Amino acid sequence: MTPFDLTGRTAIVTGASRGIGLAVAKAIAAAGGNVVLTSRSQESADAAAAEVGGAALGVGAHAADEPSARRCLDATLERFGSIDILVNNAGTNPSYGPVIDQDHARFAKTFEVNLWAPILWTGLAARAWMGEHGGAVVNMASIGGLVYEPNLGLYNASKAALIHLTKQLALELSPRVRVNSVAPGVVRTTLAESLWKEHEGQLNSSIAAARIGEPADVGSAIAFLVSDAASWITGETFVIDGGQRLGDAALFRAEAAAHA
Ligand SMILES: NC(=O)c1ccc[n+]([C@@H]2O[C@H](COP(=O)([O-])OP(=O)(O)OC[C@H]3O[C@@H](n4cnc5c(N)ncnc54)[C@H](OP(=O)(O)O)[C@@H]3O)[C@@H](O)[C@H]2O)c1
Repeated sequence: MTPFDLTGRTAIVTGASRGIGLAVAKAIAAAGGNVVLTSRSQESADAAAAEVGGAALGVGAHAADEPSARRCLDATLERFGSIDILVNNAGTNPSYGPVIDQDHARFAKTFEVNLWAPILWTGLAARAWMGEHGGAVVNMASIGGLVYEPNLGLYNASKAALIHLTKQLALELSPRVRVNSVAPGVVRTTLAESLWKEHEGQLNSSIAAARIGEPADVGSAIAFLVSDAASWITGETFVIDGGQRLGDAALFRAEAAAHA
């Protein structure tokens, strides 16, 4: 058994009917863990669980709805007997455009799903299991929470707050529970379609790794972070972006060639 092995551990992954969440569930299952996948619809959660296979369980639960969250934790304990891993992945971006053009409804939805839900689920998991038995939590931030971009200001602010919250929770829940966040760059999913679909070739050449991310790139990094191999990592933000945050790689290489 390697320190990457998750046999006997149980994970809840919120927002796992597709995209990054589904890839995280698959990566944890591949490492031997039991997985519970949530979606706003029971049908989608069931379909995703069937795609993962094995004993995977689907639960319909809006991430910001406390009774649904409690029901999901109860179902997890009943089915698998523990909640060792929580991946707060569900996220939304209804607020595209300049920050001063946003209204309260879009602000509330963004912060309710991207910030309140991780607080809610982490608190419930800590009280139901992790506080006594230990565990690992990963919050789904974004490199947007570390930089400034046009039209994504409110969404990015919610992710910046999540990065701060991760460090706060890492201290509040120490030493038994590790809490980290991941900050992906542009990943090929429905949520981020407007960021890559029309100009993927151009975007690829600007990234050091020469491609946008695939959901599985984030899944494997999270499977590592929740394993014992990462047992000395807490309160961190793990950037997974193929080098996107380093700046325009095509421009860098062109300038280097011009001066060679
Ligand atoms: N893709 C990127 O480039 C990128 C980069 C950085 C960070 N992220 C973050 O990664 C996370 C996953 O996004 P994604 O790109 O994988 O998007 P996606 O493919 O659109 O998937 C979003 C998932 O979240 C679920 N979901 C949405 N709202 C929910 C809610 N209120 N309650 C429960 N589940 C909900 C959706 O399920 P249902 O529709 O079935 O409910 C779906 O499974 C988000 O937190 C996002 O901010 C994405």
